[in-house]
Amino acid sequence: MQQNTRIAPSILSADFAALGAEVRAVSEAGADYIHIDVMDGHFVPNLTIGPAVIAALRPHSKLPFDVHLMISPVDPYIPDFISAGADIVTVHAEAGAHLHRTIQLIKDQGARAGLALNPGTAIAAVEPLLEYLDLVLVMSVNPGFGGQSFIPGQLAKIRQLRALIDATERKIDLQVDGGINVLNAADVVAAGADVLVAGTATFTGGVECYAANITALRGNAV
Ligand code: DX5
Ligand code: ZN
Repeated sequence: MQQNTRIAPSILSADFAALGAEVRAVSEAGADYIHIDVMDGHFVPNLTIGPAVIAALRPHSKLPFDVHLMISPVDPYIPDFISAGADIVTVHAEAGAHLHRTIQLIKDQGARAGLALNPGTAIAAVEPLLEYLDLVLVMSVNPGFGGQSFIPGQLAKIRQLRALIDATERKIDLQVDGGINVLNAADVVAAGADVLVAGTATFTGGVECYAANITALRGNAV
């Protein structure tokens, strides 16, 4: 069943020179998760941060750390990300040949497990693993960079995944990531998403705007 809309600011759009303060600010502004994008320059054409930065950020928020791993191979790094403070670890369906093992590794280490689908990846990649997952992430841009435009064709995928998740009777978050803003958030939720990742749309305007930005994304009057 679709749950209340939750907002996960992606700190990729935060001020990297002040990440601790930025994480505190969005936590106080009403965020539900802290979305942390990890990129390796190999699976995606960009490099970001690793477990040491996540461990340094951990004392700055009580919110769950939602760690989106855009790295391959991924298995060797999972224990480090979880001991650094990741509560949810999402891996890409395209990142390895043994996804069942990867998901089990995440769960064995005590974190919640998510599976991400690139815009060009079919829903079929999720189906054999749905019974183990806590979260499915639909990428609505090609991963690698913040500030890209939402790909409208992904709405159909969100709708189909909503139906698949509802048929399981398990509580699985349906998260959408990339190009979400106040203009398209309602469509994404109407299609079945219950967690919206938002980098640019959260951090636009500076710290005074974070609460209003998050409220607007959630669909409430500011
Ligand atoms: C893209 C990342 C996203 C992205 C979101 O690879 O996974 O989390 O930074 O940023 P916006 O909301 O700016 O598209
Ligand atoms: Zn992300």
